[in-house]
Amino acid sequence: MPDLRFDGQTVVVTGAGGGLGKAYATFFASRGANVVVNDLGGSFKGEGKSSKAADVVVDEIRSAGGTAIANYDSVENGENIIETAIKAFGRIDILLNNAGILRDVSFKNMTDADWDLVIKVHVKGAYKCARAAWPHFRKQKYGRVINTTSAAGLFGSFGQCNYSAAKLSQVGFTETLAKEGYKYNILCNVIAPIAASRMTQTVMPPEILEVLKPEWVVPLVAVLVHSSNTSESGSIFEVGGGHIAKLRWERARGALLKTGQSLTPGAILKRWTDVNDFSKPSYPDGLADFMTLLEEAQKLGDNEPGEKLELNGKVALI
Ligand code: NAI
Repeated sequence: MPDLRFDGQTVVVTGAGGGLGKAYATFFASRGANVVVNDLGGSFKGEGKSSKAADVVVDEIRSAGGTAIANYDSVENGENIIETAIKAFGRIDILLNNAGILRDVSFKNMTDADWDLVIKVHVKGAYKCARAAWPHFRKQKYGRVINTTSAAGLFGSFGQCNYSAAKLSQVGFTETLAKEGYKYNILCNVIAPIAASRMTQTVMPPEILEVLKPEWVVPLVAVLVHSSNTSESGSIFEVGGGHIAKLRWERARGALLKTGQSLTPGAILKRWTDVNDFSKPSYPDGLADFMTLLEEAQKLGDNEPGEKLELNGKVALI
């Protein structure tokens, strides 16, 4: 298979002044795309701003013979970033929502300012950029979006509750955009990357960072946003250091109980093993079977009350 190319397409990369964003921008430019290099140029904590971060990357792309233009807006002003693409290149095909900041602090010491800024950049920023690109995608019946989640969002991470909340939002956001965009050929996926950058350089040892080059995240993104991907959408991928794996929701077998007086805490505890039984899981992507479950629940007899029941090895109800 020939290397994937993106000639004539416009790629907007947010937070492209360094780390993963820079790796995306230089890659897509080297494969023929026109690239908008957006970066606010502040610190990793979201303080300050500077045009230098984006300018350096644009210069690098141009020196290598590629086409790029800088944009210095915060992603909260997504419409200006997309407007830069339309003015310079007449279109937008691919949006990589990548910009991000950290304000790590234990939940006990979390301030509203730490919470609000992280939510604003990750949640509002991704929304504003996608919202501004959406009418163009729909009109041309083509669009590819990558949003960025994190292991911290998927699994939780000490000292990162603001970041975790912001990052898991990107999963729900992507799943809904994928559903709404599909018939317009707008495909949206979300990645949980791991890569050496200024964000990770203080928390990982140098020998680990050495094998976590941002460049190793880029090829998966290229596959997902290329026109040859016509169906992969609404998916979550872990990617970094050569490891690439899809993640999905898993539903336990579960318990079905009759609703009414007999649906008591004790009745649920009596079925606790079924609630937790992952031996025959299903992999839902919506509530499709919910009505069937409701109907079936009504056909059941009264639930058995619990007596001397255990929850995770401890007596919970007698
Ligand atoms: P980075 O700090 O090197 O890059 C982020 C870029 O976003 C910076 O250049 C920064 O100036 C820019 N930025 C920050 N706020 C902005 C705003 N309001 N508007 C425009 N640009 C803004 O970090 P890295 O590691 O490259 O992160 C890229 C994305 O990947 C982030 O969303 C991050 O949360 C996510 N991520 C990274 C991981 C890693 O291992 N490096 C792990 C999981 C997620």
